[in-house]
Amino acid sequence: MCGIFGCILKNGEAAPIIHAALKRLEYRGYDSVGEATIHENKLFIKKDQGKIDDVHARHNLDDIPGRIGVGHTRWATHGAPYQTNAHPHIDCAGQVAVVHNGVIENFAELRRELEELGHVLKSKTDTEVIPHLIEDKLKKGLTILEALSQAINRLEGSYAIAVVSVREPNKIFCARKESPLVVGVGEDAVYCASDITAFLPLTNKVVVIENGELVAIDDKGYEIRKIADWTPVSREPEIIDWTPKMAEKQGYPHFMLKEIYEQPQCLRNTLRLQEPYLELMTAFLDRAGEVFLVACGTSYHACVAASYMFSKLAFLATHPIIASEFVEQHGKAVNIDSTVLAVSQSGETADTLAAVEHARLRAATVLGLTNVVGSTLTRVSRVYVCQQSGPEVGVAATKTFTSQLCMLAQLALRLAKKRGKVSHVEIERLEEKLEQVPGIAETIVQSQGERLKQLAKKYRDARCFFFLGRGISSATALEGRLKLLEIAYAPSIAYAAGESKHGPISLIEPGFPVIFVCPKDETHKTIVGNIMEMKARGASIIAIVEEGDEKIKSLADDYIEIVKGVPEVLSPIIYVIPLQLFAYHMAIERGYDPDMPRNLAKSVTVK
Ligand code: AGP
Repeated sequence: MCGIFGCILKNGEAAPIIHAALKRLEYRGYDSVGEATIHENKLFIKKDQGKIDDVHARHNLDDIPGRIGVGHTRWATHGAPYQTNAHPHIDCAGQVAVVHNGVIENFAELRRELEELGHVLKSKTDTEVIPHLIEDKLKKGLTILEALSQAINRLEGSYAIAVVSVREPNKIFCARKESPLVVGVGEDAVYCASDITAFLPLTNKVVVIENGELVAIDDKGYEIRKIADWTPVSREPEIIDWTPKMAEKQGYPHFMLKEIYEQPQCLRNTLRLQEPYLELMTAFLDRAGEVFLVACGTSYHACVAASYMFSKLAFLATHPIIASEFVEQHGKAVNIDSTVLAVSQSGETADTLAAVEHARLRAATVLGLTNVVGSTLTRVSRVYVCQQSGPEVGVAATKTFTSQLCMLAQLALRLAKKRGKVSHVEIERLEEKLEQVPGIAETIVQSQGERLKQLAKKYRDARCFFFLGRGISSATALEGRLKLLEIAYAPSIAYAAGESKHGPISLIEPGFPVIFVCPKDETHKTIVGNIMEMKARGASIIAIVEEGDEKIKSLADDYIEIVKGVPEVLSPIIYVIPLQLFAYHMAIERGYDPDMPRNLAKSVTVK
């Protein structure tokens, strides 16, 4: 997830406006930045790797001539955060400059085609194919708008694009498919951006560009057309009454809530991971002697869930290990036949990197799953995959957890296919279900918020909480517990439900809230027994159940229903969302800031 911006002023220099707008978009990505302006029919570019302030200090981003320009702040997905991979990207002739947010899935094939036509592409990015595709159409005598529309019809994936060209020096051309794009109409200027944050201090007259639309802006206004059939679209601006801070959160009161609601889109992005790397990682796992899944905190809970996925689908035994215990617990056993799959959204967690370093020194194979391209984990991994959740600002991991699970499920399914342990019919069914997961997540976030707010209010004064689950749901219970504990400071205990009668049940007394994660899977019968045990001692039962599960609903004091048919191995991706919302609302109920929990940091870079 990157931030794009463009502006065309009636008078004055665009660069300082672009610079300030990119600063307001920096939460979307901050590993490289760049600007392009047009002045006297010439294209001017400034771009480099690093945070905006550092690049500005080196290059002065305010000092480029021209009243029209575009800018970009990057969250690397394709190509590490180097200067060459920073946006804007230009064509061979240096006449077209493009900034882009999204993922071009078929960029490799387009790149090959363009190189065969003699185009020279300088970066490792997916984006760079766009200016060269446009250039190719311009050579055939098309206008910029026609060239852009033909070029984008070749693109597969998601994009919000802004294009400037010396061929039409008084216009900016934008197009959108999935990635967000808005236009701002000011007194003496018109703007385009990834979100309202970028130009809110300049105007609150906003036009939302819909999926499959193209828009041309100049200093008087904008013209929207449908990409598919070129039909003109008329749309009046809306007036937005947000403060810039509110805009950064896109109207949500906290980043955590915004990121919980972003999960459907993040999951769609994670389902578009780069084929070759997934295949490579699957191959390494397939021939691994023993596999350690190493991580901390929420990422460790993703590893626990993954160990069920790998076992049930690919008959591969894996060991989920808390990174800070890896060396002590398995240090001596690790060897050249060992494979370590390290999971870390930041890619910078010291305990995880230390475990990886120990494994590398013993010649083990290291694979990495992270959310940050260019992070240390990407540099110490033999193969890594970036999960494409975009920057996560809230300290409590939410969208990065469900994306990790989605990525690990894809890996387990590929391994299952490779090993032929599960029937093709079953694999196809699960792959179909995985494609449906973003839609199901959408239903949950849109329909369950209010209910969980009420539950948080009802249980606000509880002194302690239990989270119980069986099978893969024990991982969901662990994560639900961590969320409540870390942002609402509510003492909470999580257990594999079967273990609860070996001690923890002694804590139960009338009204003690016990949260059960109980999808309708092979563990359903036994977890009903665990619910009865707790209920018999007066516990208040809160159950996350499958829709229509009358058995458990009749036993529960409160329940949250999840749509039918979520396969067991995918259930943590969905069943964790109500627990994220419960924790969020509990923090609010108890008067705490869910974004900045005390004593914690987003990335723990000390051992
Ligand atoms: C989760 O909400 C916490 N922020 C924390 O437990 C986190 O998951 C842990 O520090 C691991 O971080 P990583 O995924 O960046 O390695």
